[in-house]
Amino acid sequence: MPESQLRSDRVPRHVAIIMDGNGRWAESRGLVRNEGHRAGIEAVRAVLRAANDLGVRYLTLYAFSSENWGRPQDEVRELMQLLDRYLVDEMPEVMENRIRIRAIGRLERLPPATRKKVQDAIRDTASNDAMDLVFALSYGGRGEIVDAARKIARAAASGELDPHAIDEKLFASYLYEPEVPDPDLLIRTGAESRLSNFLLWQVAYTEIYTTELMWPDFREDHLLEAVRDYQSRERRFGKTSAQVSNEPESG
Ligand code: FPP
Repeated sequence: MPESQLRSDRVPRHVAIIMDGNGRWAESRGLVRNEGHRAGIEAVRAVLRAANDLGVRYLTLYAFSSENWGRPQDEVRELMQLLDRYLVDEMPEVMENRIRIRAIGRLERLPPATRKKVQDAIRDTASNDAMDLVFALSYGGRGEIVDAARKIARAAASGELDPHAIDEKLFASYLYEPEVPDPDLLIRTGAESRLSNFLLWQVAYTEIYTTELMWPDFREDHLLEAVRDYQSRERRFGKTSAQVSNEPESG
C-alpha cells in the first residue's frame, strides 16, 4: 500500500506490538521453533525502520513475557541470546537514527549478561531524542501494576505520600516508564485476539489491530496497513461523535 494514502497528521504517536506466531511460522516450514524466533528478528528490524520513517515516536515490542520463563530452557536461552546479539548488532543503526532504548519488566530476572547489555543500551542511548524503542522483557501487565502498588504502599507507609493523593495520574507515574505515553495502536500478529498480559493499564483507550500474519512475515507494508486501518477509526475516548468532531485534531 502506498504511503501516500496515509494522513501524516494522524500517525499514531505510540505503536505497541505483540509479536506472535514465531513458533507456528517455523513449524509450518518443518523447522524448529527457535528458527521462527531468529526469523522474527528480521521483522523487528524492518518494523523499526518503517515506524521511524513514518514518524512513529514510540515503538514498544513485547519481546519476552513473564510467562515466557515457563518455556523449554533451550527456547528461553535462544531468546536471550537473540536479544544479546540484537543489542550489539543494531547499535550503530540505533545511534545513527537517534533512537533511545528503554525496557519495561522485571529486568532483575534476566540472566546477568543480558541484563548488562540491556542496561548498557539504555545508558548509551539515553540522550537520543528522535524515537523511543521500548522492549518489554520479563514483562507482565499485572506484575507492573503490582510493582507500582508496592512502591505506592511503601511511600504511603513511610509518610512520604498522602493516600488521599492517590489518583489515576499519580498511580500511572509509578508504572515502569511513566514518560512513555499510552499506546495509540496495538498490533497483534499470529491470528490471536488476546492481550496476553501486555500493558494492561496503558491500553484502556488503545485501538487494537490483529492480523493472521505470523510475526516473521510482518513487514513495512503490513505496518502501513495497520496504520491505515487505525486512521479510518474514530477515537472517542468515551465521548460522543459530535463532541469529538468539535475538538482539535489530537493525532
Ligand atoms: C511469540 O511467538 C514470540 C515470542 C515469545 C518472542 C518474540 C521474540 C522475537 C520476535 C525475537 C526476539 C526479539 C528481539 C527484539 C531480540 P510464539 O513463539 O509464541 O509463537 P507461537 O504462538 O506460534 O508458538
